[in-house]
Amino acid sequence: MIMQSVQDGVQILRLDRPEKKNALTGAMYSALAEALETANQDDEIRCQMICGHEGAFTGGNDIGDFLSYAGKVEMADTPVVRFLRALARNETPLVAAVDGVAIGVGTTLLMHCDMVFASPNSLFRSPFVDLGLVPEAGSSLLGPALMGHARAFELLCLGRPFSAQRAYEVGLVNEIVEDPDAAALACAREIAAKPPEAMRLSRRLLRGDTKPLEDRVEQEAAIFAERLTAPETVAAFQAFMTKKASA
Ligand code: COA
Repeated sequence: MIMQSVQDGVQILRLDRPEKKNALTGAMYSALAEALETANQDDEIRCQMICGHEGAFTGGNDIGDFLSYAGKVEMADTPVVRFLRALARNETPLVAAVDGVAIGVGTTLLMHCDMVFASPNSLFRSPFVDLGLVPEAGSSLLGPALMGHARAFELLCLGRPFSAQRAYEVGLVNEIVEDPDAAALACAREIAAKPPEAMRLSRRLLRGDTKPLEDRVEQEAAIFAERLTAPETVAAFQAFMTKKASA
């Protein structure tokens, strides 16, 4: 469910579960985490590109998986947390192409990307609070740093949808383009063609010390795990599943 290919120093990671709007399962997080971790050790991979399908970057974490985690597993050991740690520690330039929905982690993972290309049809939304949850992926730290507290609050706490234009205005998206896959791939190739050591060192300088980010990922995950069993959260998940069942 993650299609992977490498060409000209660029590894493409395509989320490939279109019938479920690319909702992310444990297996998909594991594959993504593995790809990020491996690339850091592989000189041949100079840039990674993450993308989805027409109409769906991702519908976010699979809600059925959330229900199966709740109260039964140590959140710290889940594939999703492994993926979020890998994002926070990532050393390889990461470019994203977004078309359609980018929900939950589909929005917050973009805060870890170096370049983001989105189609005019993209929609960014983080309904964490509506689901009884809290922001994750370090977004409670990266969001306010990127766009200021007020706009981060609107996105991450109010759960208001951001259009491609709004995402561009707040700095989540670099460019709005008709063909984000093509634009992201061209950019990834441009990155891969640059002197790799200078690129790696420069990127590291821009990102600065990642320890606070790594700490925030853990802090968010601990609160998130507690929230998974909260009555208001269970009710929100069940409402989604019931809506599905009766649709
Ligand atoms: N988890 C599980 N299944 C999901 C999903 C998710 N996060 N997102 C989408 N799907 C499934 C739908 O249940 C549906 O499955 P079905 O065909 O078996 O019923 C299928 O993907 C298509 O989604 P649908 O809702 O019919 O498409 P849409 O275009 O009307 O809406 C979304 C797309 C993404 C806006 C909508 O599915 C949605 O709100 N999903 C939940 C998003 C969410 O809250 N994610 C968690 C964030 S923390």
